[in-house]
Amino acid sequence: MSRILVTNALPYANGPLHLGHMVGYIQADIWVRFQRMCGNDVVYVCADDAHGTPIMLAAEKAGVSPETFIAGIREGHEADFKAFGVAFDHYHSTHSAENKALSDDIYTRLDKAGLIEPRTIEQAYDPVKAMFLPERYIKGECPKCGTADQYGDNCENCGATYSPTELKNPKSVVSGATPVLKESEHYFFKLSDLQTEVQAWLGSAVVPSSVKAKLGEWLNAGLKDWDISRDAPYFGFEIPGKPGKFFYVWLDAPIGYFASLKAYCETDDGKARGLDFERYVKDPDYAQLWHFIGKDIINFHGLFWPAMLKGAGYRQPTGLSVNGYLTVNGAKMSKSRGTFIKARTYLDAGLNPEYLRYYFATLLTPEPTDVDLDLVAFKEIIDSHIVGKYVNIASRCVGFIHSLAGGMLPSKFEGSDEVGAYVREHVEPLIAMMESGIIGPSPVAPKEEDADRSAQAALGGAALIKYLLSSAINIKGWYRDRNYAVCIREFVILSDKVNTYIHENAPWKFAKDSATQQQAVEVATVALNCFRLLTLFIKPIMPTLALRAEQLLGLEREPLSWNDLGKLMLSTPLNTYESLAARVDKDQVQSMTDASKEDLAPSQTPAPATKAAATEPKTKPAVTAAPASAEASPTINIDDFTKIDLRIARIENAESVEGADKLLKLTLDVGPLGKRQVFAGIKSAYPPEKLVGRLTVMVANLAPRKMRFGMSEGMVLAASNDEAGPFLLMPDDGAAPGMRVK
Ligand code: MSP
Ligand code: ZN
Repeated sequence: MSRILVTNALPYANGPLHLGHMVGYIQADIWVRFQRMCGNDVVYVCADDAHGTPIMLAAEKAGVSPETFIAGIREGHEADFKAFGVAFDHYHSTHSAENKALSDDIYTRLDKAGLIEPRTIEQAYDPVKAMFLPERYIKGECPKCGTADQYGDNCENCGATYSPTELKNPKSVVSGATPVLKESEHYFFKLSDLQTEVQAWLGSAVVPSSVKAKLGEWLNAGLKDWDISRDAPYFGFEIPGKPGKFFYVWLDAPIGYFASLKAYCETDDGKARGLDFERYVKDPDYAQLWHFIGKDIINFHGLFWPAMLKGAGYRQPTGLSVNGYLTVNGAKMSKSRGTFIKARTYLDAGLNPEYLRYYFATLLTPEPTDVDLDLVAFKEIIDSHIVGKYVNIASRCVGFIHSLAGGMLPSKFEGSDEVGAYVREHVEPLIAMMESGIIGPSPVAPKEEDADRSAQAALGGAALIKYLLSSAINIKGWYRDRNYAVCIREFVILSDKVNTYIHENAPWKFAKDSATQQQAVEVATVALNCFRLLTLFIKPIMPTLALRAEQLLGLEREPLSWNDLGKLMLSTPLNTYESLAARVDKDQVQSMTDASKEDLAPSQTPAPATKAAATEPKTKPAVTAAPASAEASPTINIDDFTKIDLRIARIENAESVEGADKLLKLTLDVGPLGKRQVFAGIKSAYPPEKLVGRLTVMVANLAPRKMRFGMSEGMVLAASNDEAGPFLLMPDDGAAPGMRVK
């Protein structure tokens, strides 16, 4: 048994959760449930991150105190987590007595160790509002290209980066006043003194390889001292002995993990579990410490936080699990497209929250790859995997046990007595070797091998169960390594195998004749024992569905666990079958996007400061069903079509875009329409030099769009599907730039 403390990034208390947030929380919750099913002792905590300027200003705008404001937000967050099955042992707030005490303690220890240093800095100040302005609260004209309304850190038009003092005509976002420069004393945490210690931690911590590489780069560039104080007015904790100076929100935020644990220890539940707070936070041999975070906050968790802990004499994290960013239908979540979807909007549409857990899991791996919620694939995957394959097994077989065997599974079937020995002699030793690190789960097989395995003829009876049991070894290892995508691929193959077995052994034929009815019962018994294992495999992802399956199988009193894989269901009474899962309702998906379009209200606070991000290529969902584009789009009439001004364009120039690994910047010659600059996501398929001079088709009347790298004035057309592309269109010989395409 291992002790494990698991945390999730603390969501800001400045607005409701959206589906992007849910990725990391679902990822962590699945792991927690898996670990518990293995018999490990897991404490799972989270809290609202309640401090900082945006929250202070949002409360002011709402006309309430920050305390009242964050209390309302917290209620919404907790309700959303609960609805999605994200079951923290405790949910707290960084604005709490526990967090104040722990923040003071950690700061004081850092100070005593000589790691805190005052420095005078010059910062933009809003003379009307009488407050210092964070970079995101100053807007003005870009010093390089003159574009208006740019933030104080970089220009969305030309991509230039600069400091807020360089902006022309700067204005405070809060009051509209022209900021002035003002000196102030700030406190710095001397990260540079802990460079070696952080490096050592990174060497031994479990961190996704791409994140480790990024953190390594930052470390090699040398850690800069970190400004951890902010001046009043600020919603946060005042620094001990420094009136008017507050901890920067990112100082007390991660300490909030420990504050939540501390508060949990004081609850009845925590007391009953006999949790020893001090040992959790001071002794790395007592418990593992895992932080689940998004890729935008790896610098805080992979550099600053381990340094703070080391400097203050606390234990450091065992590992970081990092999630990528959510896109919807292949693009950044957008309010106008109805793809900026709040967690609550998904629930209100009547969609099953466990379906989102399953869908996300099909895309989650140990690396922080971005996750795309393709709403067509979402339905296809759920309908196919859950309803068509998994639930189908129970719905086809339970009836035979009722009609032919009085609702009671028989006491044995052919080969049933070998299964226990197989588990003891084969499965358990391999699991033990995996747990002690001698072997790992099988490396991930290519997709073609999956298809081959699915297609093989069915194994008979006990052999089929053994096949599932030997897969259990790998599935356990992949779950442990947070490779849920692969767990699901295996789950689908196994479900296919069981369905093939049912199909080939056609119990409905045996059931017709009293002489062969026993065979029908036997086939159903084998299949239902497989269904029990499949339920075990999927339980961390879909706990409610699994619970209902357990009830059907009469297993509520001995919930499925990874420690009794070999236990067969024999002489077990079954309940009658009631539908376990329904297909995804297209109308509900539609009403969710419609409702998301409706709340177009501008956000209350400016976008948060850009957080450093590790970028990763995006993967497509592991769809075994038809690709998302199998269905034609809704019919349009000719007028709709002619609204689109399609033109032949000659690619005059093509070049890479710094900071955008998928984009090419194209200069297009559109004949009489002149020259256009277009950013196209085709870099993966075309080296820029190959494109220069060739003709293609463009949409010439698409509204120009301001991108981070400049204006995009149109769109070039290309074909693609999940497997291949993009393939740029090319007209036949004779077409010339500017010609209309119709
Ligand atoms: N308050 C900080 C975390 C402090 S932890 C000591 C914060 N809050 S947040 O509300 O902006 O984000 C909470 C979590 O959700 C983070 O892990 C963040 O990476 C994640 N995500 C926020 N938007 C997301 C997507 N669109 N997609 C995936 N994860 C996203 O950061
Ligand atoms: Zn500019």
